[in-house]
Amino acid sequence: MSALGKVVVLGAGNIGGSLAQRLAEMDVARELVLVDIIDGLPQGKALDIQQSAPILGFSTHVTGATNLEVLAGADVVVETAGLARKPGMSRSDLLEKNAGIVRGHAEAVRRYAPDAITIVVTNPVDVMTYYFREVSGLPPARVFGESGTLDTARFRTFVAEALHVAPRDVTGFVLGTHGDTMVPLLSLTSVSGVPLTKLLPPDRLAEIVTRTKQGGAEIVNLLKTGSAFYAPTASQAELVAAVAQDEHRLLPVAAHLDGEFGERGVYVGVPVVLGRQGVERVVEVELQAPEREAFRASVAAVRADLEILAKLPR
Ligand code: 2OP
Repeated sequence: MSALGKVVVLGAGNIGGSLAQRLAEMDVARELVLVDIIDGLPQGKALDIQQSAPILGFSTHVTGATNLEVLAGADVVVETAGLARKPGMSRSDLLEKNAGIVRGHAEAVRRYAPDAITIVVTNPVDVMTYYFREVSGLPPARVFGESGTLDTARFRTFVAEALHVAPRDVTGFVLGTHGDTMVPLLSLTSVSGVPLTKLLPPDRLAEIVTRTKQGGAEIVNLLKTGSAFYAPTASQAELVAAVAQDEHRLLPVAAHLDGEFGERGVYVGVPVVLGRQGVERVVEVELQAPEREAFRASVAAVRADLEILAKLPR
């Protein structure tokens, strides 16, 4: 598909490595650069991925680097760098450490790749996306965060399991923050158009909502040494493809709100239309009263983290 010239993935941990593999296999760009501060890690993973090209047939040229000058000429940057959760931690516990990392990368994007579209996945993602936008000075449309696409994938998976239907036939939205107060929207979830609320009883739906909210923690508790990366990178790759192919996909991402949903000056998960210019518009779906309340509480949780961010030494 190779619609992009260059994609840079910042961070070569489990997320960065898995994402680079997916993007290479999708042939989404002519050039893909994996970056990390640990010398050898991005180069080693990049070389390993590159050596799969003859078998898999992709043309993307994959390299690794430790210097941020490689951002020059990037069409899309994916910020994955930062610490992941350990059991018992919330995503907000990562705020201070990850803010330092994100700051350095956002400054580098401002300097070397001011025309790029940046997708932020570092946690706590709504706050880190806000911070990346602020430090980079990029227009809000060109900085957005991965959150809802992953949470929605988990929600769709659990619904599909409960109903014994194909996961891809389940569509829906999880809005709000990528955290404990996320808001799975039952009113907008369907299986090939059949409303979910007609297919499952309320107690079963409540179980699925709870499991979705704890979807990341369930995997952290199983892995014990890190957090999920297969579903997260599938969702990130979907976002990169939407930009690369100018697909105008309607997907939930952490987007900047300027009055939409009654909120301003915050990044949080909402449905948007996504294409080559980034976030083309926020789609203000109608929420039922309890969903509206839950969304407001979710935004309040993000704002509480933004206050912690504002107090960090700069
Ligand atoms: C998750 O939910 C890593 O936050 C990510 O798994």
